[in-house]
This record gives sequence, structure tokens and C-alpha cells, in this order.
Amino acid sequence: MIKVLIVDDVPETRDHLTRLLGFEEAIDVAGTAASGEEAIQGAMQLRPDVVVMDINMPGMDGIAAAELISERLPSAAIIMMSVHGEAEHLQRAIRAGAREFLVKPFSSDEFATSIRRVYEREVGRRERLGVGASQTAGRPPEDIAADHQVIAVFSPKGGAGRTTVATNLAVALHRENDARVCVVDANLQFGDVGVLLNLNPKTRSVLDAVEGGEPDAELLNSVVINHSSGIRVLLAPPAPESADLVTPAYLRKLVDVLRINHEYVVVDLPATLNDHSLAVMDAADTILVLSALEITTIKNVRLFLEVADQLEYGRDKVRLIINRSDTALGIRINDVEASIRRPIDGSIVSDGRLAVLAVNRGVPFVVSHPESPLARDIVKLARSIAGKPAAVKHKPAKRSLFARR
Ligand SMILES: Nc1ncnc2c1ncn2[C@@H]1O[C@H](COP(=O)(O)OP(=O)(O)O)[C@@H](O)[C@H]1O
Ligand SMILES: [Mg+2]
Repeated sequence: MIKVLIVDDVPETRDHLTRLLGFEEAIDVAGTAASGEEAIQGAMQLRPDVVVMDINMPGMDGIAAAELISERLPSAAIIMMSVHGEAEHLQRAIRAGAREFLVKPFSSDEFATSIRRVYEREVGRRERLGVGASQTAGRPPEDIAADHQVIAVFSPKGGAGRTTVATNLAVALHRENDARVCVVDANLQFGDVGVLLNLNPKTRSVLDAVEGGEPDAELLNSVVINHSSGIRVLLAPPAPESADLVTPAYLRKLVDVLRINHEYVVVDLPATLNDHSLAVMDAADTILVLSALEITTIKNVRLFLEVADQLEYGRDKVRLIINRSDTALGIRINDVEASIRRPIDGSIVSDGRLAVLAVNRGVPFVVSHPESPLARDIVKLARSIAGKPAAVKHKPAKRSLFARR
């Protein structure tokens, strides 16, 4: 039985929401509260599994109450409700610890599904935490890092969706596994990660790390930005002319250090094969290669796969993902597989409206629209990555292909 506490200042809404759940056998409305203060009291007394919280209430509002509840009763998953679906509300709610966001009015189906979902996620999270804690205790950092994964997101073509996939994948990995995840924007000249996550590189960027000297855990910790979605972000320099200050060797070291403190490091790579992208690819366990169903991109993907072979990146390390897989004009996935002579490893549907909305709001769509087909495809990708064991050791890469610094 999922124990639910409903919080809303309007008595009719409380009754209505209670009635919506009346037919749900596995859900029990254990109590209701009419204010933020009552919500905290009720939560401590009833110890609900799920708290459904209105944002706008006189006195202490839902966000402030959620903050206190997630601190004092972390086992309670909080669902925030509001009549507005605005980005600002959404971000404040997530920062306060809310797991989901419902925009009023919603159907009884949406309501019950969302309660079941946050509950199941919370149960899964607790199980994983229980196991994880005993596993990492007392182990040396190199051992821990070996269990962690570096995922490089690459495409030989700009606009293939690298930044979109990298940012949303990072958030999905964090939410699915309750893992520490860091996104690194390795598009040092024209990085877009800050735009998609609504962060300003003038605040902090990789340049601040370079100025601080050799990248150690402490230095990187002071440069990485905590994003409201729960992931951590290392932004590219604010201006293209500063890109040269970050050397390939520095970038490589930085990724290796971040790997110690993060279960997943997701790197958004430029669309070129240069010393920088190769340094990251060497460090990576997985290289996600994005392709569109478009002839020149496919040709360049094939060329990249040949390079990857020469570098002795294993079949398991390089994964081919078709982005906007349902927008083909004449080219089918089969044709791609025939052309590159290997099966593809995954695909992501096209949803231009949602992708653009997410960019304009600066909120990843896996947060704002977790049920959309686009977000589901990203979550599927995250699950396949989380299920993959990290490479036990890194083979030294062949040095002969490109002259490297
Ligand atoms: N699956 C998708 N469906 C619809 N639009 C997408 C999808 N993936 C990316 N886009 C859009 O394509 C454009 C380029 O994406 P972006 O992630 O910036 O590519 P890259 O980083 O490879 O240059 C953006 O406008 C983005 O919103
Ligand atoms: Mg990009």
C-alpha cells in the first residue's frame, strides 16, 4: 500500500484529489493538510511514502515545505502541483527535492500513475543505496573509478544532437540510478551545454580550472556547477579565443579525475576528430556516435568507424545511435546497417517541438516531459549504459594514426 499525504489550501481540491484516488487499490490517502506548516507536521506523524504538494499556499508555500520535508523525511517522495508549468516553478520545485511536477488540472489516471512512479523509483533508489554503500567503503580511488563510466557523445556532423543527448542522458543517468553524474562540455570553442541547462559560463568554466593548475579533485569540485536537475556541469570557456588554453592532455586528466567522484562522466564532444576529442575518446568506456538518416552523415560515420577500428576501440566501446530516427526521407535503418556493415545500437525519435521548448526554457526534457517518447528513448539509452559493466582496464591507444601532442 502506498501511503499518500495530500497538501492543498483549498478544501474542495483536497476532497477532489482524495476522491480521484478512491478507486486505486494500492494507494491509500493517509491524510490531508491545508498549509505548509500542517504538511510538515502531518509528514512527520504519518510518515507517508508520497507527499502531493500544492505550490501556492498562504503562509509557508509548498516549495519551502517540500525543502523541509525532504530534509527531515528523505524517504518521502514529493510530487509538486501547480497551475503554472513555468520553468521557474519547475526549477525551484526540483531544487526543493520534488520528484515530479503535475500541472493542474490533471486526470485521475495521470495522478495515480505519477504517484506509483515516484514510489517505485524511491523504493529502487533505497535498494541501490543499501547495496552501493557497503560496496565502496574503504576501497582505493582507482578501484572505485574503474567501476565508473566515461561516456563520450560524438558525431562527425554538427547539429546531430550531441548536446541534446549528452545533457538529457546525464540527467537520466542521475535520476535512474541516483548516481553522481558530471557533464563536461568539450566543445571548447562553441559549447552549448550552458544554454541547454540555463547556466552562464561567465560564472565558472573549465578556464577557472586551468588557471588553478593541475586538475585535482578539490580544484574541479570548486569549478563544477551544481545544476537544479541534480547533475554537475563543467562548462566550456565563455569565449572561443580561450579554447586553446585547455590542452588535450589537460582535458584527458580532468576527465580521469572527475571519474573518481562521479559514477558517470558524460562528455559532449566537438564534431571533429582532433587531439582533444581523441584524448577524451581514449579515456571513455563508451563512445556514442550519433547519426541522422542522411547520406553525408552516414558516410562520415562509416569513416569514423574505420578510424575507431584502427585505434582498436572495441566493438563494445563504440555504439551507433540514430537520432531523429523517424524522419527519414527514403533512407531506412536497414540501409544504414548495410552501408556501415554493422547493426545500430539504438535510436531516438524526433520531436522538434519538445527539443526546442526544452532549449528555450533551459530545462532538459527528461525532467519536464519524462513521459514523452523522446525522453523515453533517452532513458532507454541510459538504462543500457547503466547495465553495461565498466571497462576493467584501458588499453593504451595506438599513437600512430594522428600526430598527438
Ligand atoms: N531527437 C530530436 N528531435 C528533434 N530535434 C532534435 C533532436 N535532437 C536534437 N534536436 C535539435 O537539433 C538541433 C541540434 O541539436 P544539438 O544537440 O545542438 O546538436 P549538436 O550538439 O550535435 O550540434 C537543436 O535545435 C536540437 O533541439
Ligand atoms: Mg552541441
